[in-house]
This record gives sequence, C-alpha cells and structure tokens, in this order.
Amino acid sequence: MATSSSLLSLFLLIHHFISSATANNLHRSRYLRPSPVLDSILDSSLTYRADSPTRFFEVTKPIDTPPAAEPFSYLVLRHQFAFTYGKPPVLATYIPPSDQGCPFGDFSNIVLEWTATCRGRQFDRIFGVWLGGVELLRSCTAEPRPTGIVWTVQKDITRYHSLLMKNGTLAVYLGNLITKVYTGIYDVNITIHFYPAGAAAGLDSSKPLRGYHSTADLILPISRKPHINDGLWFKIENSTDTESKKFRIPPNVYRAVLEVYVSFHENDEFWYGNYPNEYIKANNLTSVAGNGPFREVLVTLDRNTTVGSVWPFTVIFTGGVNPLFWRPITAVGSFDLPSYDIEITPFLSRILDGEPHELGFSITNALNVWYVDANLHLWLDHKSKRTESELVSYSSSPVAYSSELEVNGLDGKFIIGANRSISATGWVRSSYGKITTVSNQRFEFSNTMVVGNEANLQIIEQTIRYDDKVDLKTEESSCVRLVRSYKKFPFKFYSNTFDQGNETYSLVANVTLAFNEKKVVLGVPGSKLRNAQKADGYMVVKDNLVVSGLGSTSEVYRFDRNGGCYFRNVSSSNYTILYDDVRRGCGGGRREWPPLGFDLSSSGIYPFRKAFIESDEAMNGD
Ligand SMILES: *[C@@H]1O[C@H](CO)[C@@H](O)[C@H](O)[C@H]1NC(C)=O
Ligand SMILES: *[C@@H]1O[C@H](CO)[C@@H](O)[C@H](O)[C@H]1NC(C)=O
Ligand SMILES: *[C@@H]1O[C@H](CO)[C@@H](O)[C@H](O)[C@H]1NC(C)=O
Ligand SMILES: *[C@@H]1O[C@H](CO)[C@@H](O)[C@H](O)[C@H]1NC(C)=O
Ligand SMILES: *[C@@H]1O[C@H](CO)[C@@H](O)[C@H](O)[C@H]1NC(C)=O
Ligand SMILES: *[C@@H]1O[C@H](CO)[C@@H](O)[C@H](O)[C@H]1NC(C)=O
Ligand SMILES: *[C@@H]1O[C@H](CO)[C@@H](O)[C@H](O)[C@H]1NC(C)=O
Ligand SMILES: *[C@@H]1O[C@H](CO)[C@@H](O)[C@H](O)[C@H]1NC(C)=O
Ligand SMILES: *[C@@H]1O[C@H](CO)[C@@H](O)[C@H](O)[C@H]1NC(C)=O
Ligand SMILES: *[C@@H]1O[C@H](CO)[C@@H](O)[C@H](O)[C@H]1NC(C)=O
Repeated sequence: MATSSSLLSLFLLIHHFISSATANNLHRSRYLRPSPVLDSILDSSLTYRADSPTRFFEVTKPIDTPPAAEPFSYLVLRHQFAFTYGKPPVLATYIPPSDQGCPFGDFSNIVLEWTATCRGRQFDRIFGVWLGGVELLRSCTAEPRPTGIVWTVQKDITRYHSLLMKNGTLAVYLGNLITKVYTGIYDVNITIHFYPAGAAAGLDSSKPLRGYHSTADLILPISRKPHINDGLWFKIENSTDTESKKFRIPPNVYRAVLEVYVSFHENDEFWYGNYPNEYIKANNLTSVAGNGPFREVLVTLDRNTTVGSVWPFTVIFTGGVNPLFWRPITAVGSFDLPSYDIEITPFLSRILDGEPHELGFSITNALNVWYVDANLHLWLDHKSKRTESELVSYSSSPVAYSSELEVNGLDGKFIIGANRSISATGWVRSSYGKITTVSNQRFEFSNTMVVGNEANLQIIEQTIRYDDKVDLKTEESSCVRLVRSYKKFPFKFYSNTFDQGNETYSLVANVTLAFNEKKVVLGVPGSKLRNAQKADGYMVVKDNLVVSGLGSTSEVYRFDRNGGCYFRNVSSSNYTILYDDVRRGCGGGRREWPPLGFDLSSSGIYPFRKAFIESDEAMNGD
C-alpha cells in the first residue's frame, strides 16, 4: 500500500528500496522494503487479449435486493485518478433521487457501486468515498496489468438513507501518481442504485422495537474538512497522537451509534507482524517496524472518557505480502474495509446540552500511519423537543497485557496477549418512554511470533475476539437484545526470505485468515458469516519489482441467515480460476463445511467467554 505524500517522496521511496526503506514490509524482515509491484515483463509474457481485462473481485455475498426489482440508478461521479496524490479530494455535487426524477420515494436498499479500470503498472492505493463528510466506503485499488484490469465494488449503503435524501457534496480521495514506471491511471465510475420498497427483500421479518429501526435520522461526520490535500480521514502517526473533532447534537436525540473506519499503512500496514522493541534494541536493528503486534483504536469523549474501542481486522491490501496472491481474488475486506459500530447512547446525557463536544481517536502502539474517521448516527425523537438522559454506570478496564519475550540474537519467540472490556449503562427518556441501554464491548487478543533464519523467517499466529452486546430495558422491564455481534479474526502467517544478491531476494510465504461473525440486530434475523482465505506462493523481487513468482488463493465463504445461505468455494492460481462453486441454499444449510486442508476448526465462532454469552447460546446453534 503506497501512500507516499508527493512526487518527491515517491522518488525518495524508490531510492529507499535500494537501501533500506522507511516503509514496513512484513515479508522483508530485516531490511524493510515497501510492497513490490509486478514487473510488466512477468505480465507481458502472458498473452491476454487487450480487450479482455482481468476482472478482480473480493468474495462476498450478493446484496439482498428485492427480487426482480429494477433500481433507479444514476452516475454520481466519473473521474480519472492520475496526479491526485496530495491534492484535495475530487468533488461532485450529489443530488438526491427525488430531484432526479426517481419514480419511487421509499427504498428497500440503496447500493453504491464503484467500478474502475486501470492498465499499466501501479501501486495499490487506499481510497475513501464521503458524502457531506460522512464516509460511505473505505477501499483499496487493485494493482493493474499491462493488459488492463476491471473491478466492481458494491456496498449496501441503506444505513446512510437520511443523508442520501439530501443535497450534498460527494468527495473521493484516491492519491495516485503517474511516473515513467508507475503508469496506471484509475478510471472510476460511482453509481448509486435505489431499489423500490414494497417488493420486500424478505429480510425485515421481525418488527423492531418502535424507534429502533436500522437507519438513523441524522448522521454527523467526525472527519476532517475536505479543503485539505488528502482524504477526509484523520492521520494518526504515533501512540501519543490524538486526533479529534468537535460536534454538537440536537437536543432530541434518543439513540447514538458511532461508526468507525480505520486503515493502516506504511510502518503499520502489517502491524500484526511488527517486532517487539526489546528484540529490535537487542539486535541494534534500524529501519524495522516496532512497537510489537498489538494495536487498539480508542475512542474518547471530551478527552476524558473512553467510550469504546476497535480491535481491527487484519485487512491485507492488494499488494500485500505477495501481490501474486491477490490476482484476481483479493483479500478479505480489501475492497470494502469493515467499519465498526460503537453504541454511544449510554453517554447521551454528556452531550445533550447543546454545547460542542469532542470525539477523539488514538491508537495504542501506533506507528506512522493510520487513517481514522467516524460517522455519528443519531436517532431523533420527532415528537419532543428534547430528551432526557442519565449515565447510570460505566466501566472501562485498562488493557490487561501480557508478554513473554525470548530473544536469542536474531532468533526469537514472542507471545503477546491482551484483554479489555468496556461497558456503560444509561437511560434516555423520550416519547418512546424511558429506555435503558446497556452496552458492552469485550476484546481478546493473542499473538505468537517466531523469528528465525537471521530474521528472514517470520511465523505469526494471531487471534482477535471482539464482542459487542447492546441490550434495551423498557419501563415494563422487558429486556430486548438490540445488538449481538461475536467476531473472531484468526490469522496465520509464514514468510521466509532469501537474499539472492544483486538487489534481488526471493520470498516464500503463506497466509491464512478469516473474518467470522455471528450477529443479531433487532429487527433483522440472526446471521452467521464464515469467510476464510488461504494464500501461498513465492516471488522473486528485484529492485522492488516482482520479476517472477506464483500465487494461489483459496477461499470458502459461507453466510447463513434465517435458514437461507450463500456459499462460495473458489480458488485461483497464477491469475486463473481453478474452481468456483457458488450455492444459494447450501442444501438446507446443514452440511459440515470446514477444511480446505487448512485449519478452520480454530476459526469457528465460539464467543470467548462462555459465561458472557450463556444466555445467547440459543441464538444460533453453532
Ligand atoms: C463509466 O461510465 C461511462 C459512461 O456511462 C462509460 O462510458 C465508461 O465505460 C464507464 N467506465 C467504467 C470504468 O465503468
Ligand atoms: C436540492 O437543491 C436544489 C437547488 O438548491 C433544491 O431545489 C432542492 O429542493 C434540494 N433538494 C433537496 C431534497 O433538498
Ligand atoms: C506524534 O505525532 C504527533 C502528530 O504528528 C506529533 O506532534 C508528535 O510530536 C509525535 N510524537 C512523537 C513522540 O513522535
Ligand atoms: C549493539 O550496539 C551496542 C552499542 O553500540 C553494542 O555494544 C552491541 O554489541 C551491539 N549489539 C549487537 C547485537 O550488534
Ligand atoms: C470530562 O470533560 C467534560 C468537559 O470538559 C466535563 O464536562 C466532564 O465532567 C468530564 N467528565 C469526567 C468523567 O471527567
Ligand atoms: C484475558 O482473559 C482471560 C480470561 O479471563 C485470561 O485467561 C487471560 O489470561 C487474559 N489475558 C491477558 C493477557 O490478560
Ligand atoms: C545483476 O543485475 C544486472 C541488472 O539487472 C544484470 O545485468 C546482471 O547480470 C546481474 N548479475 C548477476 C550476477 O546476476
Ligand atoms: C506455510 O508454509 C510452511 C513452510 O512451507 C509450512 O510449514 C506451513 O504448513 C504452511 N502453512 C500453511 C497454512 O499452508
Ligand atoms: C503462469 O501462467 C503463464 C501463462 O499461462 C505461464 O506462462 C507461466 O509459466 C505460469 N507460471 C507458473 C509459475 O506456473
Ligand atoms: C472446495 O472445492 C474444492 C475443490 O473442489 C474441494 O476440494 C473442497 O473440499 C471444497 N471445500 C468446501 C468447504 O466445500
């Protein structure tokens, strides 16, 4: 992932490739180099027809749009991203469907579609799409080929409904640079599809508690203003850096959810593979990324209260580890990075006074650089001018952290563990009555890292468990589950590098990762997602260009909901799809499905505290 800040620094980076670079690279243990890009020599040996670009894709379930419904669609932006690095975001006027002649006023789904083509050679670039400063999509570009590539990302943006019904400004930042070597221009269309309500998608089967529908009435951006020469995200450069934004909410809010977007780059692109500082110090290593592998994104209110945390999923960008892995199947989350919701409702009493307040972000152990921003989703009580609220209880345990470090020269074994929980209870009185919200976040992290072969061999095994739980208690003292989300992110990595002299190295690597989530949200049937990927291969890199190599990827994706299921089992090697088995229904959803020859048993979703979820066990027979 290249994020160099100007033409000048791109050249600096290129210069650094030869010495030791400032950017981290998981696959280059000792002397760090940025992710290499493919040499066109490698690609041009392939005889592809210029009129058939390679289609890249991230495996995901299709969006649940109403069957046979034709959406009302329009293009909101078309742009060729060439010399956009360090420039203000590209802006477009957004006009809501009502002013575009849309024949329907109610929508079952709203879908953003990003389609892009590119040809030549280019880095994987991070980009963001914002409407009125509210982030709609965080994503990464695919790396092009001389013969051209194309890819499409579809994202359900129905939750931003209130924003999409108003005039606004769409902003897209995709920092690209063209040089003699890096020639790829990203040609992008953004289209929004509005699907009519009525022909229901058959998902909202159970009625939510009145007022607790999924889309907010107002969404406030907690992001930077777009006059800057960058994205609207905040840049967090180190562990003491806190970036914040002042905001003010209307006095009749009865629910608030903060949706946080994060991505990690340069020295922290592979944070889960960063070495403990003790190891770096013991070996006098320079230019290796440190601070160990544990990262936590903390969200604070008014600089004195931690209202929630994000322990992010390990997204690998399309140039990461070995770029040949991700052609054409890209890594889990790479084209649509996950965002993370934090229930803020218990803290409403702190911010309902009509005064400005401040939300801040900081990242434990951060190295340069993280891009973070958030959207504050607010539900308004249309029947009253103001709501009342009180924070009843709050606890945020500091991170319980453990580390066992064995350093034997350049060899080492490091075991790092961490835990945290944050909980808050508060009531809000509105025209819906007095409703108490009990919110709970729990996290567990473990990372075992082995280093050998003169620091050229690195083996990582990491697991993140991340549970969100929100309950509502009404005056009649009935208790309703608003949110249950049990996430497990297993990650395994193996990489061995061999110096071949002459500015050339070869790398053998494999990575296994999964995004698993069991989820229930009020009004939506419970779902279970298991999305596991395994990639392996080798490459020979000369002067930061991959001159030869091979990458293979297998992925098993399974989403179950309400007896329905979407299943895909797909694999690619050397740009070719080996098999692609897509099923809807999955034969009743009863089939035992793990292995791919790799261990998925440890990637099942078993919430980490038995006691914590005992009462939720019935939610989804695992
Ligand atoms: C973008 O839309 C224009 C006009 O509809 C079309 O000609 C072009 O091929 C599209 N480009 C991409 C990358 O989809
Ligand atoms: C959008 O702006 C136009 C021009 O100012 C205005 O006529 C229209 O009513 C606005 N539409 C909405 C939905 O606010
Ligand atoms: C951390 O980053 C901030 C923001 O760039 C900077 O002001 C500060 O000096 C940095 N601190 C350290 C210790 O590098
Ligand atoms: C690291 O540097 C110190 C001080 O320069 C030196 O005493 C020590 O031997 C060096 N250690 C290694 C492993 O090179
Ligand atoms: C935090 O700071 C805000 C604003 O300065 C203040 O009103 C509030 O009482 C403080 N809360 C705590 C728990 O310190
Ligand atoms: C995290 O919590 C579990 C369960 O209470 C405990 O066994 C483990 O030691 C904790 N880990 C750390 C790093 O504190
Ligand atoms: C080193 O690389 C140069 C430039 O690519 C090439 O001409 C030369 O033959 C290589 N030398 C060896 C020993 O591989
Ligand atoms: C990764 O490669 C190493 C070395 O070849 C091997 O021992 C390990 O089993 C592989 N892991 C996976 C998940 O394929
Ligand atoms: C990849 O495929 C190309 C074209 O089909 C072929 O020329 C090349 O040898 C293959 N690479 C490997 C490592 O199998
Ligand atoms: C995926 O397909 C491959 C090839 O057909 C097969 O070996 C594997 O068992 C399948 N995996 C699952 C989970 O169905």
